Amino acid sequence: MMEHNLLLDAWKEGKAIGAFNANTYDDMEAIVQAAAELGRPVILMASMSCCKFMGIDTFVMFAKHLEKKYGTPVITHLDHCIDPELLYKCVDAGFDYVMFDGSNRSFEENCQMTAQIVRDCHEKGVFVEGELGVISGTEGPLKSDTGVFTDPQQMKEFIARTDLDTLAVSIGNQHGFYKGEPKLNFELLEVLAKESSIPLVLHGGTGIPVEDIARAVSMGICKVNVGTDIRATYLRTVSEYGKNWDGKNDIRGYITCLRDEIKKVAKYYMVSYS
Ligand code: 13P
Repeated sequence: MMEHNLLLDAWKEGKAIGAFNANTYDDMEAIVQAAAELGRPVILMASMSCCKFMGIDTFVMFAKHLEKKYGTPVITHLDHCIDPELLYKCVDAGFDYVMFDGSNRSFEENCQMTAQIVRDCHEKGVFVEGELGVISGTEGPLKSDTGVFTDPQQMKEFIARTDLDTLAVSIGNQHGFYKGEPKLNFELLEVLAKESSIPLVLHGGTGIPVEDIARAVSMGICKVNVGTDIRATYLRTVSEYGKNWDGKNDIRGYITCLRDEIKKVAKYYMVSYS
């Protein structure tokens, strides 16, 4: 329980912990290096498809190894899980913190399923994040073109009935690259933060101006999720490296370059709310 208490500490101090989606050892290492250089804890997030691709035991093992290697707290998180069976496997494999995303279900079903998952996870000392309202864009198995803002009254009931630890809110944030200017609804965030007894989470961090992220954090956001920017940086770097390849078999040079670029992106977000 100790590591995710760091989230509550960050929240009380008006700070946040950076949460990044990772898919390979190299992006995981770059993100942890960035956090260690800033003297910050970090959250490494595995999507459902990352769990399938990498294997949940491998993800946990890499994260624990990196925590030891760099001497900074690393919290393992399952992102946007809609499958309770996978969620429980992750809990058993040693994840610190899991998200059950019931946002595509009815309010009643979301409440009941989240409450049961929270009960089971708390018995094992694992933190739980839920989602209320719908964040637009595509994330893992869920897709929404429009999104639905989080309703403050429903949120109060959801928190009371589920006893969850953190809540992902929909306030104009989107998953993926924004089409047009990202516009967070700070008036709504102010109401949500005032009414909420638990820390709130900002998804869809990619592309939100860092000043806006910092403002949201100062208002009650304790975790900022970034995925697309990490993946895009990974692929851009690989493709540029490939274009300029000199024919030598220097795979370590390429991985060093890849890690440096991802590290820069992770730091860019983290410094804004550390
Ligand atoms: P982005 O891919 O838009 O950065 O969002 C990531 C996210 O919120 C993961 O849950």
